[in-house]
Amino acid sequence: MIYSRITGTGSYLPEQVLTNHDLEKIVETSDEWIRERTGIGQRHVVGPEETTCDLAEQAARSALAAAGRRPEDIDLIIVGTTTPDQVFPSTACLLQQRLGVHNGCAAFDVQAVCTGFVYALGVANQFIRAGSARCALVVGAETISRILDWNDRGTCVLFGDGAGAVVLEASETPGILSTHLHADGRYESLLSVPRGIGKGYAQMVAGEAYLQMKGNEVFKWAVNTLGRIVEETLEANGIEQSQVDWLIPHQANIRIIQATARKLKMPMEKVIVTVEQHGNTSAASVPLALDAAVRDGRIKRGDLVLMEAFGGGFTWGSALLHF
Ligand code: ACO
Repeated sequence: MIYSRITGTGSYLPEQVLTNHDLEKIVETSDEWIRERTGIGQRHVVGPEETTCDLAEQAARSALAAAGRRPEDIDLIIVGTTTPDQVFPSTACLLQQRLGVHNGCAAFDVQAVCTGFVYALGVANQFIRAGSARCALVVGAETISRILDWNDRGTCVLFGDGAGAVVLEASETPGILSTHLHADGRYESLLSVPRGIGKGYAQMVAGEAYLQMKGNEVFKWAVNTLGRIVEETLEANGIEQSQVDWLIPHQANIRIIQATARKLKMPMEKVIVTVEQHGNTSAASVPLALDAAVRDGRIKRGDLVLMEAFGGGFTWGSALLHF
């Protein structure tokens, strides 16, 4: 039996930091409101010339170094992103070129908004288990700041930019135990960027392709759905919540994270939280949190880790794995 296992993690945040106090100068808001409602204290944002692929490249190089792998070892590249550099080629193809991977391996993007990394990990796991790849680079990278309406205080305070990556390799021991990917397209009106190539192209070209969200409705959906996906994952593997060493939730809002942890009866000390420093980095949030906890020594080889995410689509998903 072939399993897939994470052999290295990496992440990257753009240098520029925007604190809640900085935002007080842009929209009518306060550090107190943002902290109380979301747990966010600051977020990183890209400079004018910086792109999603720039962030992805840094995270990928760091993950490759951690895994002791060179670019030419990679035989599959999947990037979860909602904010690709270009319409095409995919950010994964751009990344392949940047890294100098010239072996012709498959490279493609996955678009599942905040669930993008979990989707990408699920797909890479299937490739490896089927014997179609042995060493995959899986990235979640976003420049969400580019699709925010900086006049809309209900959304612009919530998000940040960044990238996280893992190297996922074929292994005789698990590794990923299961992934669970879901979507329900009925809720477009609650969370979307309703502009693109086929619809609202002129507004998109004018720089008006903004993220729109009915925050409190998304909040309720996220709490309920994340509770269910966690239960589904534990049940599928026949394990109790007490056996999970670490929960890595999507970092959208501390109140959503706490509600999921409560449902799981998981003490907050076992939950990886980066939302205070990163904000919601969409597809980058889970791998950024994973890398932070690996590098500070909390997550160790063999630990049982549960990742979960929820995002636009709606999409949601989870992965249970031995690190
Ligand atoms: N500063 C100050 N006041 C604000 C701000 C702000 N930044 N934003 C909204 N308000 C005001 C509103 O105008 C409203 O005022 P009113 O009562 O006078 O009308 C009041 O605060 C309450 O607004 P609500 O939207 O009801 O506030 P809520 O408690 O629901 O918090 C929040 C809003 C933080 C957005 C919350 O709903 C949330 O976190 N939702 C989930 C969002 C999320 O996780 N999205 C990511 C999903 S993943 C993806 O794919 C992108």
